Amino acid sequence: MRCQSRSRVIRSAFVLLAACIVVIGAGVVADAEDEYPLATLRSAPISKHVVPPKMPKVVNSDIRQARNYPEQPPLIPHTIRGYQVDLNFNKCLSCHARTATEDSQAPMVSVTHFMDRDGQVRASVSPRRYFCTQCHVVQNEVKPLTENTFIDVDRVISDVMKKGN
Ligand code: HEC
Ligand code: HEC
Repeated sequence: MRCQSRSRVIRSAFVLLAACIVVIGAGVVADAEDEYPLATLRSAPISKHVVPPKMPKVVNSDIRQARNYPEQPPLIPHTIRGYQVDLNFNKCLSCHARTATEDSQAPMVSVTHFMDRDGQVRASVSPRRYFCTQCHVVQNEVKPLTENTFIDVDRVISDVMKKGN
C-alpha cells in the first residue's frame, strides 16, 4: 500500500514537471520569434503550415563569376543536377581534372587542390578537396533572404583614400 502511494506521488511529480517544461519551452520559442525575425529558408513560423515555394532555377549561364575576395571558392556557373560524387566516381573531375581539361575546356582545379595538409603537392586531388560541393556552389535565381552588407575590398580602399585626402 505504502509503496503504491509513493509511486503515485512520483508519477504526478513527473507529470507536473513535464507540463512545466512544455509551458516554459513554448514561452521561450515565442520570445525568440519576437526578438529575432526569421533569417532562414523557412517562410513562416514552424507552427504554420504553408505551401512550399517552387524550386528556383539554377543559374546555368556558363559565365564565370567574379570572386568577392581572392580566397573565395569560385561559384559554379553551370547546373550540376545528378552529378555523381562518391567513393566510386567524381563527375566533376571528369571535366576539371588536370588530364581532362583539353577535351572539356573546363578550368583545371587549382594546384591547392593537390596539396596535402603539409602543403606537399600530390599526383592527384587531395581527399580534402574531393567533395567539391563542400566549397563550390551553384546559384539560384531568387531574391536574397537577408540584406547583405558585404563591401568589396577595392571599395573599402577607395573610401579610405577619399577620406584620407
Ligand atoms: C561536362 C563538363 C563539366 C562537369 C562534369 C563539371 N564542370 Fe564545372 N565547368 C565546366 C566548364 C566548361 C566550365 C567553364 C564555364 C562554363 O562553361 O560553364 C566550368 C566551370 C566551373 C567553375 C567555375 C570556375 C571559375 O574559375 O569560375 C566551377 C567552380 C566548377 N565548374 C565546378 C564544378 C563542380 C563542383 C562540378 C561537379 C559537381 C563540375 N564543375 C562539373 C565543365 C564541367
Ligand atoms: C575545401 C574547399 C574546396 C573543395 C572541397 C574544392 N575546392 Fe575548388 N576551390 C576552392 C578555393 C578556395 C578555390 C580558389 C583558390 C584556390 O585555387 O585554391 C578553388 C578553385 C577552384 C577552381 C578554379 C581554379 C582556377 O585556377 O581558376 C576550380 C575549377 C575548382 N576549384 C574546382 C573544384 C572541383 C572540381 C572540386 C572537387 C574535385 C573542388 N574544386 C573542391 C575550394 C575548394
